[in-house]
Formats: sequence, structure tokens, C-alpha cells
Amino acid sequence: MIREAVEWLLTPSTRAGRNLGYLNEAIAIGARHRRCRAAWAEHLARSRQAILSAARKAPGHRTALVLGSGPLLDVPLAELAAQFRSLILVDALHPLTARLRALRYSNVELVTADLTGALEPLHRWRPGEPLPAPQTLPLLQRDDVDFVVSQNLLSQLGVLPVEWIEKRAGPPGPAMAEAYAADLTRAHLADLARCRARVCLIADVECWWQEPDGRIAERSSSIYEVPPPPAAEEWIWAIAPAPEGDPRLSEYRRVIVALDPGKTDQSGG
Ligand SMILES: C[S@@+](CC[C@H](N)C(=O)[O-])C[C@H]1O[C@@H](n2cnc3c(N)ncnc32)[C@H](O)[C@@H]1O
Repeated sequence: MIREAVEWLLTPSTRAGRNLGYLNEAIAIGARHRRCRAAWAEHLARSRQAILSAARKAPGHRTALVLGSGPLLDVPLAELAAQFRSLILVDALHPLTARLRALRYSNVELVTADLTGALEPLHRWRPGEPLPAPQTLPLLQRDDVDFVVSQNLLSQLGVLPVEWIEKRAGPPGPAMAEAYAADLTRAHLADLARCRARVCLIADVECWWQEPDGRIAERSSSIYEVPPPPAAEEWIWAIAPAPEGDPRLSEYRRVIVALDPGKTDQSGG
């Protein structure tokens, strides 16, 4: 509790980042990882492996972008910093642990950016007004970018916007918020599809809750019913083994790796 309070006070955040819940969420991910370290180990190791294997096939080794770098649990930081001339970590909020680790590398830069471009306008949004349209991320079109990782982020793009809209919009809130979250999810996939660099998308796309005897209690899309791109690889992430999120039910996610999602050649070769 004390550690989390200190992190909350010392982590740089915009007002929108604090009010929409990005600061709380960043601190919660770190705390959840400390509680679920063993259950997450395989998912984190496979994520790092998938990134390194995709990086080997990048057309060049000038700049790499990691989108959704967050606490850097699933990012092979040392290896990417060694392989690329410049490594840019992009997130709406960089936790203190990530800031400290990045300091060790002279070619690693932290960029605080909202991938959807919608968070600041959403912070100012009032019910009755149209919801802000998602924007493209200009960094993705930079000429020197050879490799882009979208890192366990896709399912998260809509989560806090949904909560924000639902709290404010009254009865139409839930349906409107879910449709908006799907728009943000599709917009990120479209942004990746337009990017010239080699792209590695790692994302959970499905979630389910399991009884102690193995029966599935509930299953749903974790990306707001947006169809996921074809997977080059996939695995199951025990994200919240009981009693982490529920005294009885354990939560699992299906995670996919998609190479150059949305581009014409899906072979990944
Ligand atoms: C599940 S975490 C990613 C895991 C992280 N790569 C790690 O090492 O554990 C999702 C990340 O996406 C970021 N995020 C969510 N929405 C975002 C947005 N609109 N723009 C930029 N980052 C966003 C969060 O701040 C968080 O760090």
C-alpha cells in the first residue's frame, strides 16, 4: 500500500491521465504482477520471444517503437536497445520503474503519447456532444521507423474510456461506450496496417472465467467483438488465477501474435 501511494505521488501524469484512471491502472498492473508473478511468467517470456523473433525480420535496424511499453514486464529492453540504433517506448503513462530502467540506455527514449489521440478531448467531453474521433499516431509514419511492436495493449485501449463514458452518459452509456471502444480498437489496427515498418502485434483477444473444476463460466471477446487478425502464434495467459479477481473463478486470456496485421501479405515471412 505504501509503495503504491509513493508511486502515485511521484509518477508524472497529465490531469487527463490521472482523472481517466491511467495512473491508477499503471500502479495496479505492477501490484498485480507482484501477486501473480508465477502465473504470468510464461506469457511474459513468450511475449519477449515473439518480439525478438519478429525484430530479426525487420527491414532495417534504425528505429524501433514499442507501443504500450508500460511497466516493461514483457519488453526485451536490453536486446532491443542493442539491436536498434534508437528505441522509442510509447505509452500514455510511463511508470517510475520503466523510467528508471530506460535511463540505463543512451539510445532509449520515452515518449508519453496517447495512441488514440482521443483521451484529452474525451476528458473535456460532455454528454450530448459527439464523442471524439480517434486520431492516427504520427510517429508510426516516420521514415526511419523499421520495427513497431504493439505490446499487450489492444484490449486496453477501450477499457478506461468505457468507464469514463459510462459514468457520465446515463442510460445510453453502456452501449455507446462499447461501440466507442470498438472504434478505438479498429482505429489502432488501421494505424498499424498503414505503417510501412515491420509490425508485431501481441494482444489478448478473448477472455474467459473458469470454475475450480475447469468448467467455463463465461467467455467473451476482449476486443469488443472486433475480429482479430490472423495469428502466427497464440497461447493462454492465466491473467487472474482465483482468488485474484474473484474468490472462485480464474480469468484467462487468449493471446495472439500477428505479424504485419492488416497488410496484404499475411505470411509473416
Ligand atoms: C497491459 S499494459 C501493457 C503491458 C506492458 N507492455 C508490460 O510490460 O507489462 C497496457 C498499456 O497500455 C497503455 N495504454 C492504454 N491505453 C493507451 C493509449 N490510449 N495510449 C497509449 N498507451 C495506452 C497503458 O498505459 C498500459 O501501460
